[in-house]
Amino acid sequence: MKPGITIVTVAAILGWLSIEGVDAAGPADQRRVELPPPVEASALPVEEAIAARRSVRRFIDRPLADDVISRLLWSAQGITEPTRRLRAAPSAGATYPLELYLVDHRGVFRYLPEGHQLELAASGDQRAGLAQAALGQRMIGEAPISIVVTAVGERTASRYGRARGERYVHMEAGHAAQNIHLQAVALELGSVPVGAFDDQEVQGVLDIRDDHEPLYIIPIGQSR
Ligand SMILES: Cc1cc2nc3c(=O)[nH]c(=O)nc-3n(C[C@H](O)[C@H](O)[C@H](O)COP(=O)(O)O)c2cc1C
Repeated sequence: MKPGITIVTVAAILGWLSIEGVDAAGPADQRRVELPPPVEASALPVEEAIAARRSVRRFIDRPLADDVISRLLWSAQGITEPTRRLRAAPSAGATYPLELYLVDHRGVFRYLPEGHQLELAASGDQRAGLAQAALGQRMIGEAPISIVVTAVGERTASRYGRARGERYVHMEAGHAAQNIHLQAVALELGSVPVGAFDDQEVQGVLDIRDDHEPLYIIPIGQSR
């Protein structure tokens, strides 16, 4: 194993161990943990990922490794241009309205593109509640993780007006979601975009802010 990869792996393990002791009610900086950097490139050509992508609705409930979670989140909203802090998915006027949440057996975590970190939003396994909020779609409770794509529409509306801003935010959610689906294929995982859910129930189950409007729930895992 290369020394760089050893360091990343050790840092990743330490990061995930520390997350267990994080207190959801603690100060924001003490609820944050580093994700391992998304260092490795996949060998799958993009055309093959596009051709292989299908909606998967049956999952093995086996936790995903930290570097896998890191790459999925990075694909959607990671910072890919360090000078201007531009992200993996395009954004109208670089207003970046999207906020991503990771939901797994440990809790709910907000993804912070700056620093490529997770911030604990709620402790405990909320997957069954999330499935209920999505009209009982069982694959959400079965998948090891879901990424919930939410948006703070005001960030884009304040620049482009309400109607245009809303349109742009929805377009952007599609860009981010497709990056996640293609990255999942490259990682030999399955995923499905879920749009059928009760917005307020999702906000309540995940204990996320009212101005973070849920747009997509994307369960991801090894397909069964
Ligand atoms: C906006 C949108 C919302 C969707 N919502 C759901 C959903 O709530 N549940 C579900 O099982 N699939 C959902 N899907 C997935 C579609 O059913 C799926 O993409 C379609 O059947 C085509 O299959 P494919 O994704 O394998 O190409 C949604 C897809 C889109 C684009």
